[in-house]
Amino acid sequence: MNQAVLILIKPDGLKKSLTGNILTRLSETKLEIVAAKIARVSKELAEEHYKHLKDKPFFGEIIKYLQGELHDRKKVMALVYWGEDAIKKCRELAGATNPEEAESTSIRGSYGRITTSGVYENVIHVSSNEFEAEREIKLWFAPGEIIVDLYSTKDLVQKEIAIKVWD
Ligand code: PPS
Repeated sequence: MNQAVLILIKPDGLKKSLTGNILTRLSETKLEIVAAKIARVSKELAEEHYKHLKDKPFFGEIIKYLQGELHDRKKVMALVYWGEDAIKKCRELAGATNPEEAESTSIRGSYGRITTSGVYENVIHVSSNEFEAEREIKLWFAPGEIIVDLYSTKDLVQKEIAIKVWD
Protein backbone atom coordinates (compact mmCIF):
# COMPACT_ATOMS: atom_id res chain seq x y z
CA MET A 1 0.00 0.00 0.00
CA ASN A 2 1.38 3.40 -0.98
CA GLN A 3 1.93 5.76 1.94
CA ALA A 4 3.42 9.18 2.58
CA VAL A 5 5.75 9.89 5.49
CA LEU A 6 7.26 13.09 6.87
CA ILE A 7 11.00 13.08 7.54
CA LEU A 8 12.74 15.93 9.34
CA ILE A 9 16.51 16.14 9.37
CA LYS A 10 16.87 17.96 12.68
CA PRO A 11 19.34 20.79 13.45
CA ASP A 12 21.99 18.39 14.85
CA GLY A 13 21.91 16.46 11.56
CA LEU A 14 22.47 19.68 9.62
CA LYS A 15 25.19 20.92 11.98
CA LYS A 16 27.05 17.59 11.72
CA SER A 17 26.82 17.73 7.89
CA LEU A 18 24.86 14.49 7.81
CA THR A 19 22.28 15.48 5.18
CA GLY A 20 24.03 13.60 2.35
CA ASN A 21 24.58 10.49 4.46
CA ILE A 22 20.98 10.45 5.66
CA LEU A 23 19.53 10.95 2.17
CA THR A 24 21.79 8.20 0.84
CA ARG A 25 20.59 5.84 3.57
CA LEU A 26 16.96 6.75 2.85
CA SER A 27 17.49 6.16 -0.88
CA GLU A 28 17.91 2.45 -0.03
CA THR A 29 14.12 2.39 0.40
CA LYS A 30 13.62 3.19 -3.32
CA LEU A 31 10.80 5.52 -2.22
CA GLU A 32 10.08 8.72 -4.13
CA ILE A 33 10.77 12.16 -2.64
CA VAL A 34 7.63 14.17 -3.42
CA ALA A 35 8.43 17.31 -1.38
CA ALA A 36 11.54 18.82 0.18
CA LYS A 37 12.59 22.12 1.70
CA ILE A 38 14.82 23.81 4.26
CA ALA A 39 12.62 25.45 6.87
CA ARG A 40 12.98 27.77 9.82
CA VAL A 41 11.00 26.42 12.75
CA SER A 42 8.93 28.85 14.78
CA LYS A 43 8.04 28.03 18.38
CA GLU A 44 4.42 27.66 17.25
CA LEU A 45 5.32 25.15 14.53
CA ALA A 46 7.52 23.09 16.89
CA GLU A 47 4.83 23.09 19.58
CA GLU A 48 2.16 22.02 17.10
CA HIS A 49 4.41 19.28 15.70
CA TYR A 50 5.03 17.82 19.18
CA LYS A 51 1.63 18.76 20.67
CA HIS A 52 0.94 15.19 21.89
CA LEU A 53 4.00 15.52 24.16
CA LYS A 54 3.14 18.82 25.83
CA ASP A 55 2.87 17.25 29.29
CA LYS A 56 6.23 15.44 29.10
CA PRO A 57 9.09 16.79 31.22
CA PHE A 58 11.31 17.14 28.13
CA PHE A 59 8.75 19.13 26.10
CA GLY A 60 10.51 22.49 26.51
CA GLU A 61 13.86 21.00 25.50
CA ILE A 62 12.56 19.27 22.34
CA ILE A 63 10.94 22.53 21.23
CA LYS A 64 14.30 24.32 21.59
CA TYR A 65 16.04 21.37 19.91
CA LEU A 66 13.73 21.40 16.85
CA GLN A 67 14.08 25.17 16.58
CA GLY A 68 17.86 24.78 16.47
CA GLU A 69 18.58 26.65 19.67
CA LEU A 70 20.78 23.83 20.98
CA HIS A 71 22.93 23.61 17.85
CA ASP A 72 23.22 27.12 16.47
CA ARG A 73 21.52 25.87 13.28
CA LYS A 74 18.09 27.44 13.10
CA LYS A 75 16.70 25.25 10.36
CA VAL A 76 15.57 21.74 9.52
CA MET A 77 15.25 19.86 6.24
CA ALA A 78 11.71 18.61 5.74
CA LEU A 79 10.91 15.89 3.20
CA VAL A 80 7.95 13.78 2.19
CA TYR A 81 8.74 10.27 0.96
CA TRP A 82 6.05 8.34 -0.85
CA GLY A 83 5.63 4.72 -1.90
CA GLU A 84 4.94 1.17 -0.77
CA ASP A 85 5.07 0.81 3.04
CA ALA A 86 6.91 4.12 3.30
CA ILE A 87 6.45 4.53 7.07
CA LYS A 88 7.76 1.08 7.99
CA LYS A 89 10.70 1.34 5.59
CA CYS A 90 11.80 4.76 6.81
CA ARG A 91 11.33 3.90 10.48
CA GLU A 92 13.43 0.76 10.06
CA LEU A 93 16.29 2.74 8.54
CA ALA A 94 15.95 5.45 11.22
CA GLY A 95 16.17 2.95 14.09
CA ALA A 96 14.61 3.22 17.56
CA THR A 97 13.63 6.66 18.88
CA ASN A 98 16.10 6.27 21.74
CA PRO A 99 19.49 6.37 20.01
CA GLU A 100 21.00 4.11 22.70
CA GLU A 101 18.44 1.45 21.80
CA ALA A 102 18.74 1.93 18.04
CA GLU A 103 20.58 -0.66 15.93
CA SER A 104 24.15 0.58 15.63
CA THR A 105 23.88 0.52 11.82
CA SER A 106 20.66 2.58 11.76
CA ILE A 107 20.68 6.35 11.21
CA ARG A 108 19.92 7.15 14.85
CA GLY A 109 22.23 4.40 16.10
CA SER A 110 25.06 5.80 13.98
CA TYR A 111 24.61 9.51 14.64
CA GLY A 112 22.28 10.06 17.61
CA ARG A 113 23.06 10.69 21.27
CA ILE A 114 21.32 11.39 24.56
CA THR A 115 22.16 14.71 26.21
CA THR A 116 23.19 14.92 29.86
CA SER A 117 19.67 16.20 30.61
CA GLY A 118 18.18 13.04 29.07
CA VAL A 119 16.86 14.45 25.79
CA TYR A 120 17.25 12.31 22.69
CA GLU A 121 19.18 14.07 19.95
CA ASN A 122 18.27 11.49 17.36
CA VAL A 123 19.04 13.40 14.14
CA ILE A 124 15.80 12.63 12.28
CA HIS A 125 12.09 12.56 12.85
CA VAL A 126 9.94 10.00 11.03
CA SER A 127 6.14 9.98 11.27
CA SER A 128 4.95 7.13 13.47
CA ASN A 129 1.77 6.10 11.60
CA GLU A 130 -0.50 7.17 8.74
CA PHE A 131 -2.65 9.40 10.91
CA GLU A 132 0.38 11.27 12.25
CA ALA A 133 1.95 11.39 8.78
CA GLU A 134 -1.10 13.18 7.36
CA ARG A 135 -1.25 15.60 10.30
CA GLU A 136 2.48 16.37 10.09
CA ILE A 137 2.65 16.68 6.28
CA LYS A 138 -0.27 19.14 6.34
CA LEU A 139 1.51 21.08 9.08
CA TRP A 140 4.86 21.35 7.27
CA PHE A 141 3.78 21.65 3.62
CA ALA A 142 1.17 23.49 1.60
CA PRO A 143 -0.56 21.40 -1.12
CA GLY A 144 1.34 23.20 -3.90
CA GLU A 145 4.71 22.22 -2.41
CA ILE A 146 4.01 18.50 -2.90
CA ILE A 147 4.24 17.09 -6.44
CA VAL A 148 1.52 14.45 -5.99
CA ASP A 149 -2.05 14.84 -4.74
CA LEU A 150 -1.83 13.18 -1.32
CA TYR A 151 -4.91 14.56 0.39
CA SER A 152 -8.06 16.37 -0.68
CA THR A 153 -7.80 20.13 -1.18
CA LYS A 154 -10.20 23.02 -1.67
CA ASP A 155 -9.91 26.34 -3.50
CA LEU A 156 -9.76 29.45 -1.34
CA VAL A 157 -9.84 32.93 -2.84
CA GLN A 158 -7.96 35.42 -0.70
CA LYS A 159 -8.12 39.16 -1.32
CA GLU A 160 -5.50 41.77 -0.45
CA ILE A 161 -2.97 39.41 1.01
CA ALA A 162 0.58 40.82 0.74
CA ILE A 163 3.11 38.31 -0.56
CA LYS A 164 6.82 38.71 -1.35
CA VAL A 165 7.77 38.46 -5.03
CA TRP A 166 11.15 38.88 -6.77
CA ASP A 167 12.04 42.58 -7.33
S1 PPS B 1 5.75 8.78 23.07
O1 PPS B 1 4.53 9.36 23.61
O2 PPS B 1 6.89 8.90 24.01
O3 PPS B 1 5.57 7.44 22.53
O4 PPS B 1 6.07 9.72 21.88
P1 PPS B 1 6.91 9.47 20.58
O5 PPS B 1 5.95 9.54 19.45
O6 PPS B 1 7.77 8.25 20.68
O7 PPS B 1 7.81 10.73 20.48
C1 PPS B 1 8.64 11.16 21.47
C2 PPS B 1 9.44 12.30 20.85
O8 PPS B 1 10.14 12.98 21.88
C3 PPS B 1 11.53 12.88 21.65
N1 PPS B 1 12.27 12.73 22.90
C4 PPS B 1 12.03 11.83 23.85
N2 PPS B 1 11.12 10.85 23.94
C5 PPS B 1 11.15 10.09 25.08
N3 PPS B 1 12.06 10.26 26.08
C6 PPS B 1 12.99 11.24 26.02
N4 PPS B 1 13.86 11.41 27.01
C7 PPS B 1 12.99 12.07 24.86
N5 PPS B 1 13.76 13.11 24.48
C8 PPS B 1 13.30 13.50 23.27
C9 PPS B 1 11.71 11.68 20.76
O9 PPS B 1 12.92 11.78 20.05
C10 PPS B 1 10.46 11.78 19.88
O10 PPS B 1 10.62 12.75 18.86
P2 PPS B 1 10.98 12.32 17.35
O11 PPS B 1 11.08 13.62 16.61
O12 PPS B 1 9.86 11.47 16.87
O13 PPS B 1 12.28 11.58 17.42
